[in-house]
Order: sequence, then structure tokens, then C-alpha cells
Amino acid sequence: MGGKLDGLIADNVRAMLSGWGPTHKRYQWAKRIADHGGLIMEIACGWGGGNVPMMMEIDPQATVLMNDLGLVVLDEWRNHLAGERKWPNVGLAHFDATRCPLRSGSIDCVDSAGGIANIPGSNRAISEAYRVLKHGGKLFMSDIDLDPDSFRRLPVQVREDWKRSNDDPDAGSGYRRRLERAGFKILSLTTSSSTLDHRESTIAEIAAKHGQVMGVIGYTIEAVKE
Ligand SMILES: C[S@@+](CC[C@H](N)C(=O)[O-])C[C@H]1O[C@@H](n2cnc3c(N)ncnc32)[C@H](O)[C@@H]1O
Repeated sequence: MGGKLDGLIADNVRAMLSGWGPTHKRYQWAKRIADHGGLIMEIACGWGGGNVPMMMEIDPQATVLMNDLGLVVLDEWRNHLAGERKWPNVGLAHFDATRCPLRSGSIDCVDSAGGIANIPGSNRAISEAYRVLKHGGKLFMSDIDLDPDSFRRLPVQVREDWKRSNDDPDAGSGYRRRLERAGFKILSLTTSSSTLDHRESTIAEIAAKHGQVMGVIGYTIEAVKE
């Protein structure tokens, strides 16, 4: 690989570490995950690595499996890790998070930072996260989802078509309901609401055709598999 992607991961890591110090909420969230310890899986780590760069700053010995379905992104992470010679207990795992090739009850902690929300069939990624966690294991999520109230205002057929096109029968029902359905107990959940401009997303454009404004909710959730 080469060209435009060279250095992108290093830039992302640097930006994250210089932007968010110990007093920042995101740092404290990453510390909560790192402090949980054990084997941590970062779902759909992408080019930013989710919370991994910050967790590793907090605990360079943390044991982390960075998952993604994209081979290119994992290859770039491999180059980055090899070049830096740091984070000795970080491994890379190329698989579909809706069908994890991992034993049930084998993971201590699952983290998603904009990961689950970006996976088609995310209901299955949530059930897989539940399955692979040990009892007492935790799911940490900082993800954005459609606001169930504004989703409900769309005509039934539009909602059904949206669920089908996203391969997700639970789309639009909000993460509290979705996680509880999968078996999780919610330990903490905070939200922030905003609305989408109809030019910035397909669902907002569809909503506008029906005279609605689509709301979204940013969730920060800690949940446990009891
Ligand atoms: C927007 S990024 C996620 C953000 C990321 N956590 C970060 O910090 O940059 C979306 C990622 O999801 C990955 N992805 C999509 N479907 C997936 C799946 N079924 N399993 C695992 N990863 C998937 C994509 O390859 C992409 O890297």
C-alpha cells in the first residue's frame, strides 16, 4: 500500500492524543474501558481505531483485539504498529462483526466507537457482542442512531423499507431497546440529541419528503452481560 493513505493512521492517533487530555470526557471514557481490563475487542476499529489509541496511552500493556472487515485498514494498522514498536498486546482481527469467529464467552470487554452504528445488520453485531462476552463482561458504546420518536413518525411502509435496506429489523428502535433485547443490562446511558439536514443523509431526505425532520441520538452506554 502507499500513496494517500500513508501516515493517515499516525495522523489520526496523534490528533486523538493531542486533542483529548485527562480532563476530557472521551479520555475518561477510554480510561473506564482500559480499567475494565482483560481481553478488549474494538469493533469496526476503522482508520481512527475507536478508543484504542487513548486506551493504549492509558495502559500500554492492555490486551486488545482490533476488529474490522476492511483488509486495507487493518494492513495500515499493522504497518503502523510494526513501525512504532509499541502496544505489544494489540492484535488485529479481520472478520465480519455480525459473524464473529470467536468462542462464546471468550472476551472481557467489547468497545464500539462509531463501529456498531456503521455495520449493516447491526442487530447481529449486537447479538454477537453479547455472545462472545464472558458473564460479567461489558459492552461500551459511543454510537449514533436514529431518534426512535422521529423514526416512528415516518409512514409504516417507509420504515419497513428502511429496515430491509439496512438489513436490520431493529433499525430505528434506539439502543436501549436493542441492547436489552439482546440480553444486556444497561448500567449507564447518556444521550445527546440533534437533527439531520435533509441534504446530509438518505433517511433525512426521505423524512423531508414526508414533511418530517429526522432526529438522531448520540449514545454513550455501558452495559453488562450478567
Ligand atoms: C466509520 S468506521 C468506524 C469508526 C471507527 N471506529 C473509527 O474510530 O474510525 C466504519 C468501519 O466499519 C467497518 N465495518 C463495516 N462493516 C463491518 C462488519 N460487518 N464487521 C466489521 N467491521 C465492519 C468498515 O470497514 C469501517 O472501517
